[in-house]
Amino acid sequence: MRIEAASLDKRATYFLMTSFLIPRPIAWVGTRSEDGHDNLAPFSYFMGVSSDPPLIAISVARGRRGALKDTCVNLLARRDCTVSIVSASELGPMHATAAPLPREASEFESAELVAVDGVAVDAPRPERARVAMECRLHTATDLGSTHLLVLEVVAYEIGVELVDGRVPVDALEPVARLGGEYALLGELLATP
Ligand SMILES: Cc1cc2nc3c(=O)[nH]c(=O)nc-3n(C[C@H](O)[C@H](O)[C@H](O)COP(=O)(O)O)c2cc1C
Repeated sequence: MRIEAASLDKRATYFLMTSFLIPRPIAWVGTRSEDGHDNLAPFSYFMGVSSDPPLIAISVARGRRGALKDTCVNLLARRDCTVSIVSASELGPMHATAAPLPREASEFESAELVAVDGVAVDAPRPERARVAMECRLHTATDLGSTHLLVLEVVAYEIGVELVDGRVPVDALEPVARLGGEYALLGELLATP
């Protein structure tokens, strides 16, 4: 089967692409608005970009009626955020923070999450996240329907013991986003 990309509308494209661009890690992004309201939301269009300097990227689609999502508004205005990694025990609270709330409402409160302030950045993170990064906006590219936001990591908050400088997989228990489902890691394979 061959499908011309132009033959699919944006909904069909979303369903198709997110069903095979898997498994995707989930960036749980904490920001603060210009008037001081905390915000937390998950993004699975999320990737590592560079280790030197340490860069990661998320892409934030426009929301209803083309409006920018709170995360994008806050990042463009304040340039600071935290990006936490979602572990198995955070699946429920993480999913709850995807609800579209009014700009002044905090997903930390609605999902009953304790917020911890960043040290180097003016943005909150969920206390229970095992791995979080404090980030500053490096580059924002408006792609029309989506903003590609490249973030420079300025600090790591690691709540588990490192082994040989790495976060052990079994200590992180990362959750991945599939098409419409979530997944945990299955069998680990040694590098051939
Ligand atoms: C697991 C998961 C992954 C998501 N990934 C994205 C994404 O990559 N880009 C995006 O624009 N929205 C994504 N969303 C939807 C946003 O989380 C949702 O629109 C949220 O309300 C945005 O919050 P905000 O307006 O506070 O920024 C995702 C939702 C879930 C549950």
